[in-house]
Amino acid sequence: MQSKEIISLLQSEPSMHPITVSGWVRAFRSNRFIALNDGSTIKNIQCVVDFEKFEEDLLKKVTVGSAIQVEGTLVESQGQGQAIEIQVSKIDILGEADPEEVKLTILSPKRHTLEKLREQAHLRVRTNTFGAVMRLRSKLSFAVHEYFQKNGFYYMHTPIVTGSDAEGAGEMFRVSALDPKNPPLNEDGTIDYSQDFFGKESNLTVSGQLEAETYAMGLGKVYTFGPTFRAENSNTSRHLAEFWMIEPEVAFNDLADNMDLAEDFIKYVIKYALDNCQDDLEFLENRLLQEEKSKPQTERSEMSLREKLSFVIDNNFMRVSYTEAIEILKRSKPNKKKKFKYLIEEWGADLQSEHERFLVEKHFKCPVILFDYPAKIKAFYMRLNEDGNTVRAMDVLFPGIGEIVGGSQREERYDVLKQKMEDMGIPEEELSWYLDLRKFGTCVHSGFGLGFERLVLFVTGMGNIRDVIPYPRTPGNAEF
Ligand code: 4AD
Ligand code: MG
Repeated sequence: MQSKEIISLLQSEPSMHPITVSGWVRAFRSNRFIALNDGSTIKNIQCVVDFEKFEEDLLKKVTVGSAIQVEGTLVESQGQGQAIEIQVSKIDILGEADPEEVKLTILSPKRHTLEKLREQAHLRVRTNTFGAVMRLRSKLSFAVHEYFQKNGFYYMHTPIVTGSDAEGAGEMFRVSALDPKNPPLNEDGTIDYSQDFFGKESNLTVSGQLEAETYAMGLGKVYTFGPTFRAENSNTSRHLAEFWMIEPEVAFNDLADNMDLAEDFIKYVIKYALDNCQDDLEFLENRLLQEEKSKPQTERSEMSLREKLSFVIDNNFMRVSYTEAIEILKRSKPNKKKKFKYLIEEWGADLQSEHERFLVEKHFKCPVILFDYPAKIKAFYMRLNEDGNTVRAMDVLFPGIGEIVGGSQREERYDVLKQKMEDMGIPEEELSWYLDLRKFGTCVHSGFGLGFERLVLFVTGMGNIRDVIPYPRTPGNAEF
């Protein structure tokens, strides 16, 4: 008999019809009550065993962490905490788990720190917290596709191995098949990549944007959703070396359209989570509440997790120019009292996460879209404004997260783009194909990138980006 998923069993009516269910034992109390979980939901199903009817040797193997299959019938629960339970008629042990060994792992039923869970990342999805986070991650991925597919976008797969640096920031991981002990050399002693697998230097992509632009110029509205890689040595709770990015690109959209799209999209996926992941969100909300109890009153959040999510959906994002933001920051208390690590002294300063969070959490108290940044601190492909100093860039800033989206209207004018690349030292030969787009039917177009893990961080209320991706890759760590 095929196993039924616990999520559907829990919604079923009691019945004499025999059922089979498989899962991992979370607890076995009084030799009588098995709490079984199969990952389909955060909820366990209670399986009631009449121990006199079972071999003692068999019941001994029903231990925390073991995989079992039970047969029985769904009955109205006698106890509290659940409407129905399974009256067990048969137990099969599928995979044993030695209690002595389980005791040494995070599967043992006591509180473990998130750091400890990270060290055993291959087991952590069996905990309530990570089960909830990873189910949400999956649902949010689906919502991303649903949003774009419903709105006339085509999903395109941008390459993972590329020959270009989309952000021009030089933070790339090289991909090479050369023998590291004996690579072919040029006359000047540098490595001769023309003899490498791809016949040139190549690397893992930092962004699918440039290729997405080429497809927007033919399909109109496209998006990518794939892994991206950055060799930046940022050991923070917001940075990963491998993360997933969602990048829509739209022909004929200007910067204002781009902001509208970003806001509408973010609200859609958050609403999807609220509507479809209630049990997991309820659990994560309580987890956060417990965690916040250890903080001083002043640092605790005024809103619960779901209130925060609803707040984002129900309120307009504040749109503020970089120039206005600098004025606000200059006049701000932490700047005057020298509380910022990086003091804002003049126009042109790059904003750090402390400034972004001040604007969002203290000043505006809502998500903020900053736009029209100084050209000097932004990437080469952004549309230059008429003032000659600023570009049509936009960053969406979120409470507790800082930057969640970075995007822009793209420079569509051939000469201006060529000049900009020259000024910023970006070799034209490498991006001739990108410049070509400006020669053959160029047009206004815009797009953005949303860091998927930062979205999952926000929605789950987790504090560290390493805890919202199955196997985090960070400086010094590529375990598993
Ligand atoms: O602002 P970024 O660097 O923009 C781009 O890559 C553009 N090419 C996107 C585009 O216009 N199509 O990155 C976009 C977003 C950031 O706002 C952030 O959410 C996320 O990607 N991000 C990271 N997330 C986790 N770890 C990192 N190291 C990240 N770097 C950027
Ligand atoms: Mg950015």
